[in-house]
Amino acid sequence: MKRILRPTTLAATVILSCLGLLSCGADPSVSAGTGGAVASAAPRATAAGLEILEGGGNAVDAAVATALVLAVVHPNAGNLGGGGFAVIRMGDEVEALDFRETAPAAARAEMYLDENGEAVPDRSLIGPLAAGVPGSPHGYFELHRRYGTLPWKRVVDPAIRAARDGFVVTDRLAGALEENADLLGRFEATAAVWLPGGHPHGAGSIVRIPALAESLLAYADRGPVALMEGSIAAAVVAASERHGGILSLKDLADYRPIWRRPIRFRAFGWEVASMPLPSSGGIILGQTCGMLERLDWAARPRDGADRAHLLAEVWRRAYADRFLLGDPSTSQAAAEDLLSPEWLDLRAATIDVERATPSDEILPWPGPPTESDQTTHFSVVDAEGNAVALTTTLNGSFGSGLLVPEAGFLLNDEMDDFAARPGRPNQFGLVQGEANAVGPGKRMLSSMTPTVAWRDGEILALGAPGGSRIPTGTAQVLLNTVVDGDGLQSAVDRPRVHHQWRPDAIWAEADALTPETRQELIRRGHDIRKRNAIGLVQIVRRTADGMCQAVADPRGPGSAAVVGKQGARPGPWEMNQ
Ligand code: DON
Repeated sequence: MKRILRPTTLAATVILSCLGLLSCGADPSVSAGTGGAVASAAPRATAAGLEILEGGGNAVDAAVATALVLAVVHPNAGNLGGGGFAVIRMGDEVEALDFRETAPAAARAEMYLDENGEAVPDRSLIGPLAAGVPGSPHGYFELHRRYGTLPWKRVVDPAIRAARDGFVVTDRLAGALEENADLLGRFEATAAVWLPGGHPHGAGSIVRIPALAESLLAYADRGPVALMEGSIAAAVVAASERHGGILSLKDLADYRPIWRRPIRFRAFGWEVASMPLPSSGGIILGQTCGMLERLDWAARPRDGADRAHLLAEVWRRAYADRFLLGDPSTSQAAAEDLLSPEWLDLRAATIDVERATPSDEILPWPGPPTESDQTTHFSVVDAEGNAVALTTTLNGSFGSGLLVPEAGFLLNDEMDDFAARPGRPNQFGLVQGEANAVGPGKRMLSSMTPTVAWRDGEILALGAPGGSRIPTGTAQVLLNTVVDGDGLQSAVDRPRVHHQWRPDAIWAEADALTPETRQELIRRGHDIRKRNAIGLVQIVRRTADGMCQAVADPRGPGSAAVVGKQGARPGPWEMNQ
């Protein structure tokens, strides 16, 4: 049943949402349906999720199908050769699956340094030395093994069809191939698939990847061992060795995903679950909400300087604390301390509502940042209100650029997420500590923030790509929804800001700050820089009355759709398809 808001209801909605008292009803500007919803970075992947929901699959079945189609049609981030995280709520069970890549056993801290001890970024970004042991093949399989209801082959099938029968290159993919042609052209096998005849595929052309279709068929038959052991694993190791990499058969065979206890907290009346170490995402989100509640953030005017100032101050501290984090083996205790009420009290108490605290007063700053983009997040909710938030990545766009010819997939460059040299910024400008130094078998610290939040029968699943901007982008959409009662579309559309401690600046999307707010922030001591797309947030929701909705971030390639749509007009995402 579609809810129609009458003027009086509308007035009440506005008033209640201004007061932050509203439970999030269905957004009347977005299509709603009772059969579930999917928001992902690619129309074909969203369609796969929908196909599975319509065929009786649950949110996990649909999530795995979506992830695998992304591995075919969104090669800059979707993957079999990368890793990721999923936070899910199935019935009352709330779980986090860590299928992050691990450092190969032969990885050493000095590996990315020159003879003067300075980091050589290309080594951790390009080619097989940049690649961690892929976690995705086990990750998707394990999600399905534990929670899936449809046969495994059925959820892999849409990806097989895409790779074998072909898919249409979208404008976005054509643009990404063009933009990354240098990287893709470095390795013959990669160029053969993605730059045929030396040129990137143009928009509208049909691409088939027979080797990837074969890998997926083997995966459908035998699960992850088909990729992580035997002939495909041997091909991965051979491709790595050919170009100076250190991945071994044992690294691949030994890989295991890990179920972890999500970071759980209550914020603004909602229960929230997000990703624990080896991601910093849930910790930053938990610290953000914890400090904001202590600072009475919800009561401050929506677009005023106080809110932006407090966000910047909270994030400056949360990202400084991130310096202590790394693989759980190095920093589990620190993670727990960082979310303790005592620490949040102390941290929040150091915030001056009138003045920016220079980041230099929190920890020393070693140098300027560089940036790069590409990861992918999608969210799924099913008719029962089960929800999956899943973020997966190769790290940089198209990962290490190295495609394994016999397998048809690219290897990641996730090793760059370690602190090649602790104290120096990585490609996201993140300054990280010893806890995240390179070490054999370790999982590199992430910022990915797949998140599920629920209250009174209503549930949201969300997350984003965007490197260091993932936790802040995700936090703002969550706050817009649960604090301001925004509809999904407005929660995603509203311009965002970002601060990450280093560099000591607020990054703001166009129109995020009114001229008065900007001036006031400068008066309080902030440096403000312009930045496009602070995260690309994909969000789904099921309201207490069973209406499901999905919104894909208009800042990036995105596609959202609902099952059993009831009479709503198409949202902008449907026109994208
Ligand atoms: O795990 C991380 O935090 C990064 N590897 C994510 C990379 C990313 O989001 C790239 N950009 N959009």
